[in-house]
Amino acid sequence: MKSKLDTGSSIFTIMTELSNKHDAINLSQGFPGFNPDPRLLELVCKYIRSDNNQYAPMAGIPALQDCIAEKIKKFYGRTIDARQEVTICDGATEGLFSVIQAVVYPNDEVIVFDPAYDNYGPDIVLAGAITRHVPLIRTKERNDYHIDWQKLKDTINEKTKLIILNFPHNPTGAILRSEDLDTLADILRDTSIYIMSDEVYEHIVFDGKKHLSLASHDELWSRSFVISSFGKTFHATGWKVGYCAAPIELSKEMRQIHQWTCYSVVTPIQHGLAEFMHTYPDYIESLSSFYEAKRDYFCKLIEPSKFSYQVSAGSFYQLLDYSGISEEKDTSFAKKLTEEIGVASIPISVFYETPPFEQKLRFCFAKEDGILEQAAEKLCRL
Ligand SMILES: Cc1ncc(COP(=O)(O)O)c(C=O)c1O
Repeated sequence: MKSKLDTGSSIFTIMTELSNKHDAINLSQGFPGFNPDPRLLELVCKYIRSDNNQYAPMAGIPALQDCIAEKIKKFYGRTIDARQEVTICDGATEGLFSVIQAVVYPNDEVIVFDPAYDNYGPDIVLAGAITRHVPLIRTKERNDYHIDWQKLKDTINEKTKLIILNFPHNPTGAILRSEDLDTLADILRDTSIYIMSDEVYEHIVFDGKKHLSLASHDELWSRSFVISSFGKTFHATGWKVGYCAAPIELSKEMRQIHQWTCYSVVTPIQHGLAEFMHTYPDYIESLSSFYEAKRDYFCKLIEPSKFSYQVSAGSFYQLLDYSGISEEKDTSFAKKLTEEIGVASIPISVFYETPPFEQKLRFCFAKEDGILEQAAEKLCRL
């Protein structure tokens, strides 16, 4: 039978399988190597034991919706209607899928910025739409990966329905600056284009910088769907719980799809997360410094190696440049590194429509220090 989606396996599946086969240290897939806070585990168990095991309301349990609304007020200064503007999703993944299916129609165009997280493309194909790729750039004046505004303007046309942002960015670790949001608002002012902002790493931003959510910008908020993931924030990617925050009319559209996709999300985990967020509000605030220490440790361990890097500004990924070691393409170098050196990573060319010749691999540093030490020791042998 001809597949509806002709995408093959995701790079995460491929690299994880290769890593397992060669018993390598897996720094490829983006999941923490440690458990959620024991107090959170206790709370989830408490709700499982106390009869909270049937369907949750379609848009999420009120207590968790309230926590998200409070969090958005606290971090981004926006007051939102918890019942009507927050939808708890089956991971950020389902939120992304539901938003795209809700607003994108056949033959519409959706703009993504390359290197782009690999979930967006298949979702756009399933909506019958066309993906337009705008590569992020680095310039002399600004050497972080950022949006090429002229290219974005040139790509927008009357078919453009949605623009997908993802900052803190996977895989480069780039973050937004406030002038970026203002420039985007200027470009979109006279259009009816929606924005979907994938902010799953919103609470992992380093060096005293702040995450700039689309929820924080008055003008952009009215056209935005903001997606996040409890998995990344609470070291619980296997729970697959996330949320979508969007103005009422947009949330209504998104829920049209959400209700037929999964209807509702695992009840006791929603209760556990709500009580945890309510009882320990400082947890989220400590996450950036927790991961900043990991980033710094990993970079220090890599220092004696032949890899070079620019420190990640957010997320739990660090790009390492191997041009001082090999001329090879990143896909073959990543394979060799897994098979022969015993460390799995992600080649970033797979996130591009037209990959530039960049010799960079993505490493996930959300691992115990001992694992980072073992990986670095192997990488320093090269
Ligand atoms: C940019 C980005 N968006 C979405 C997701 C998926 O999040 P979830 O596990 O909550 O579905 C990931 C996971 O790696 C991600 O990196």
